[in-house]
Amino acid sequence: MAMIAKKCSQYQVKIVDINATRIDAWNSDNLPVYEPGLKEVVESVRGKNLFFGTDIEASIKEADIIFVSVNTPTKTFGFGAGKASDLQYIEKTARSILTASDSSKIVVEKSTLPVRTAESMERILNNNGKGLHFDVVSNPEFLAEGSAIADLENPDRVLIGGHQTRDGLAAVEEIAKIYANWVPRERIITTNLWSSELSKLTANAFLAQRISSINSLSALCEKTGANIDEIANAIGKDTRIGSKFLKASIGFGGSCFKKDILNLVYLCEHYGLPEVATYWENVIKINEWQTTRSVKRVLRSLFNTITGKKIAVLGFAFKADTNDTRESPAHLVVRELLEERAIPVITDYRALPDAKRDLSDVLDKVQFAEEPYEAAKDSHAILLCTEWRQYAALDWQKIYDSMSKPALIFDGRNILNGEELKKIGFEFISIGKA
Ligand code: UDX
Repeated sequence: MAMIAKKCSQYQVKIVDINATRIDAWNSDNLPVYEPGLKEVVESVRGKNLFFGTDIEASIKEADIIFVSVNTPTKTFGFGAGKASDLQYIEKTARSILTASDSSKIVVEKSTLPVRTAESMERILNNNGKGLHFDVVSNPEFLAEGSAIADLENPDRVLIGGHQTRDGLAAVEEIAKIYANWVPRERIITTNLWSSELSKLTANAFLAQRISSINSLSALCEKTGANIDEIANAIGKDTRIGSKFLKASIGFGGSCFKKDILNLVYLCEHYGLPEVATYWENVIKINEWQTTRSVKRVLRSLFNTITGKKIAVLGFAFKADTNDTRESPAHLVVRELLEERAIPVITDYRALPDAKRDLSDVLDKVQFAEEPYEAAKDSHAILLCTEWRQYAALDWQKIYDSMSKPALIFDGRNILNGEELKKIGFEFISIGKA
């Protein structure tokens, strides 16, 4: 929304939320989300045509277009628990839109939703005795955290789905007009409503499936002496496959991939396609197996006992350039270290507050360090879990000197120069290399 405000001064953008603390933070110097370049964009338009507030009813009433971006977590209860999306916030929002409205509006689904959610929103919205008409349009977000501003400035595509009726097509065009202020028309794709909803889930499933495929081969490389980076390079040179999302790692994380695949699995089960459901479920299984087998490898290198040993965990965010720790593989690594009664010492450039929150039940068993040097001091091993670029440029000699020997590094992101580190004296293991 900040990007829309920046690119389209003719629109007034109002962001409302029930959480006043969060809105206060958006109105302050200390934004609640770390994202490179975001602060600058927000500050350039806040108070001009971008506003943050809690007056939901009044804002609904005055809006012509409403983007619904409420959360759709995985259901934890009842039918579909653990897989299906919990749509209660979507439904509540539809009802509050209806209650507060006294004119017809376009309602845009921005949240990632299971296919055919628009149908239920429409049923709620258009069953009104007020003579109002609502057009529901799907406009899923493809930005990735850490590169959100660049992704929004220059998207590969903007997807807008609507009903193939006169009203539906007009609503789609109304939304396309917003993006056309800075996105070339040929990158604005319009489809029917259901294709648009299903594209978001399946685009994420395809990206995650590539990482699970390459990660499954990383284990074979470790056994055979093949090198996963060389394999990825060879595979990725085929332009039909392409070089992106082939970097072996301790596993993918984030709020989207696992949640969206589980939702896809649930949809396949619902439509009586158990084989398709099992196929995609295995993409997630391979991901968890990858993290767990990585910790086992570290354990083997430390004489199968890490009880009472300090282990430095470099990075807790699910990837670099974000403070987001949701579904982070580092979190699973820390839990496994605790199972072995090791003492994890966690450091991260942005995610320490989130790490402390995620580990609040075990705060007496873990330690936190602002600096990687402090985390590594007296540790037996370093586990690099997040691909922060800064880690490649640390003073590794200084770190080696401060550690217990033999000093082990496990590069869970394949970003370090193993040969150099071995020369210093480290024992070095990485993903997909014998
Ligand atoms: C993802 C999609 O990319 C985005 O289009 C969608 O809108 C939301 O979900 P995001 O979750 O922000 O975005 O992160 P992404 O950059 O896709 O990375 C996901 C995970 O995969 C991270 O843990 C990352 O470290 C890991 N990854 C990525 C790898 O392990 N190897 C790779 O080659 C690429």
